[in-house]
Amino acid sequence: MKTALVTGATGFIGGRLARRLLDDGWRVTALVRPGSKPTGCPGLKRHVHDGSTEDLVRLLRRLRPDVVFHLASLFLAEHAPADVRPLVESNVLLGCQLAEAMAQSRTLRLVNTGTSWQHYHEAAYDPINLYAATKQAFADILAYYEGAHGLRTVTLELFDTYGPGDPRRKLLAALRRAAEADVAFSAGRQLIDLVHVADVVEAFVTAARRLLAGRVRRGETYAISSGRPRPLREVAAVFARTNGLRLRVKWGARPYRPREVMRPWSRGRRLPGWRPKIGLEEGFRGLGVPSGLNGKEGVSHGS
Ligand SMILES: NC(=O)c1ccc[n+]([C@@H]2O[C@H](COP(=O)([O-])OP(=O)(O)OC[C@H]3O[C@@H](n4cnc5c(N)ncnc54)[C@H](OP(=O)(O)O)[C@@H]3O)[C@@H](O)[C@H]2O)c1
Repeated sequence: MKTALVTGATGFIGGRLARRLLDDGWRVTALVRPGSKPTGCPGLKRHVHDGSTEDLVRLLRRLRPDVVFHLASLFLAEHAPADVRPLVESNVLLGCQLAEAMAQSRTLRLVNTGTSWQHYHEAAYDPINLYAATKQAFADILAYYEGAHGLRTVTLELFDTYGPGDPRRKLLAALRRAAEADVAFSAGRQLIDLVHVADVVEAFVTAARRLLAGRVRRGETYAISSGRPRPLREVAAVFARTNGLRLRVKWGARPYRPREVMRPWSRGRRLPGWRPKIGLEEGFRGLGVPSGLNGKEGVSHGS
């Protein structure tokens, strides 16, 4: 039986990943913080992090997980001065503490999570926002642990993830609202790269297999892209069609946001052995139910 430590297991993708690993017969521990909501996942053990590095060293020495899956993160499309500390704590400090504890306990396999937003305008590195910059900062820190301590890492840079169980109310929630009332949108010409959460979870499992098979010599980074970004207007049309909705979207009624991604990053490497299987037509089906009945589902646009 394989053992995993998962951070971010109370979140949208981490929760799905933890369930998948349990279903596959892994023993899984979720690293949570005091006040984290329940994972709602029977069979999942929880360790409440006291915030110290020593706590993580003790935990990893005890668990000796075969793979650590690091998904915990604070996502903010835009930040205010008060957000700087929580962004750094969640996206840099926690990861650094985890990598240190991995080095100390000789727990060497890590699947990490980045974002396509590290690559504005197709750049090797140009972060869209401070959130993306903190993701890169942790990736840079990992290079030290890879070189000096032998960590083997696979970082999956995600695009927009959607599917059942997303508590965040963004694009699909706005489209659902548009079935009931006029909703102001931008001009809608930006391309959006949507990947179903089941495909994203499969990417994490594929990355873990790669690590377990000894195929990763140091650090690898892959883009978990649909390979088929589509204009927002087209996404809205597919959503309406697959859910039998008439949408009252007011295109162009609001401006694009600053540093809007008009074309998602397309130069990332594809993870060997993985490809997305669920297209929008299939993935959107059933997600258009009015929020009163199905308010926990949606697409989060961005991050
Ligand atoms: N969803 C997307 O479209 C998307 C796109 C690109 C990249 N990503 C990346 O994919 C990963 C998962 O995303 P998601 O959408 O599933 O995130 P999410 O639903 O927002 O969940 C975030 C998770 O991180 C945990 N967390 C945050 N700060 C923490 C801390 N300091 N200590 C411990 N736990 C902490 C949260 O725990 P609490 O319950 O304690 O809050 C929660 O479990 C993230 O790394 C995100 O940056 C997601």
